[in-house]
Amino acid sequence: MDKIVIHGGRRLSGEVKVSGAKNSALPLLFATLLAPGVHRIANVPDLRDIATVEKLLTVLGAQVTRKNGNFVVDSGAIESVEAPYDLVRTMRASVLVLGPLLARLGHARVSLPGGCAIGARPINLHLKGLEAMGAKITLDHGYVEARAKRLRGARILFDMPTVGGTENLMMAASLAQGTTVLENAACEPEIVELAEALNKMGARIEGAGTDSVTIEGVDELTPLVHAVMPDRIEAGTFMVAAAITQGDVLVTGAMSSHLEALIFKLREAGAEISEETGGLRVKGPRKITSVDIKTRPHPGFPTDMQAQFMALMALGTGTSVITENVFENRFMHVCELQRMGANISIEGHTATVKGVKGLLGAPVMATDLRASASLILAGLAADNTTEISRIYHLDRGYERIEEKLKSLGADIERVKE
Ligand code: EPZ
Repeated sequence: MDKIVIHGGRRLSGEVKVSGAKNSALPLLFATLLAPGVHRIANVPDLRDIATVEKLLTVLGAQVTRKNGNFVVDSGAIESVEAPYDLVRTMRASVLVLGPLLARLGHARVSLPGGCAIGARPINLHLKGLEAMGAKITLDHGYVEARAKRLRGARILFDMPTVGGTENLMMAASLAQGTTVLENAACEPEIVELAEALNKMGARIEGAGTDSVTIEGVDELTPLVHAVMPDRIEAGTFMVAAAITQGDVLVTGAMSSHLEALIFKLREAGAEISEETGGLRVKGPRKITSVDIKTRPHPGFPTDMQAQFMALMALGTGTSVITENVFENRFMHVCELQRMGANISIEGHTATVKGVKGLLGAPVMATDLRASASLILAGLAADNTTEISRIYHLDRGYERIEEKLKSLGADIERVKE
């Protein structure tokens, strides 16, 4: 297994380009199951999760080729409707095949994803919505079996905003008989991009990006040609990297409209953020002001940026209170940051971060995707050497992050463990 070794203390400077959005590319690739034919999706990031999607689409019978981030998916001959456990457990987003398979073939058999490091992450809201659309759902030895002659439009009210639930049901509803309304829908930019892509395929979706999405079902869809938008969480991670190292970095592809809550909080913490052609320039403050954050569904502060922001607050001048409202166990990075000298205490969903003068390089262990990013950011600012193991978590969501950080002046290497 590889590990990442960082010699901290370097100021980052220069320009870094953000890759395509992981959390957009995943549903977009699954959307190809909705329409037979040859789909072309560009700017797909080279990530472990994307490789898992490629495997899953192939297992289902699609022909997938990819070259430099350009995917060609021929979903004309879908033979299987089963997403097997060994793939779903490595990437829970595989449950996004449910809606497309059910809509196109009237049958889907998907392994229940099970929990993950950051929480139980059930899919009850996905299933409730599909049942409201007429699907017969049974649980069979760890698998969800869903059948429907033809899904019919329904009005669905989510108990809470769910990104995956909104995506699954938007895809299912696009081929249903009649109109579906998703109330209390998730508003993330990835939802907006998926709706745009589905509409390019002939779907009739309105309201994506608001909490009420209306989908008028059509009889068939046509293949997709699309380029994935930049990854706002990767962009946010590089913005924090500039802030934590008193750097000056142009993050190309960062879109302020996708990151308003983060930009607001980084400015409160003392960073200078300005729009430039094609991206955002971030200048890190000499002194980091401690600020409080509460994670919320979009447009609130993104839960996927909480761990990264906590690394920044570990060096704040005061005390920062960080509340994680989306997932029940997303503080796995705390004990690793404490090993680097951070002064953090946890009470339920709230972490109190008392800023320290400096972090100390140490051997630490990644536990989940964004916790890995948090440890890298802490390592960039810490003294001496930080070694991060189990970075397979990192490779799920960041494309060649050590090369990108090295190009900004970081002293960082990926070494074989
Ligand atoms: C998506 O996960 C993202 N993943 C996550 O990013 C992100 O953290 C999350 O949305 C929230 O923004 C992808 O897009 C592939 P949810 P998802 O359904 O869809 C509960 C990363 O780091 N819930 O919006 O699984 C759930 O337990 C990853 O890139 C139910 O209770 O998230 C959670 O507490 C991590 N029942 C909350 O809702 C359901 O049926 C939000 O989950 C569905 C969700």
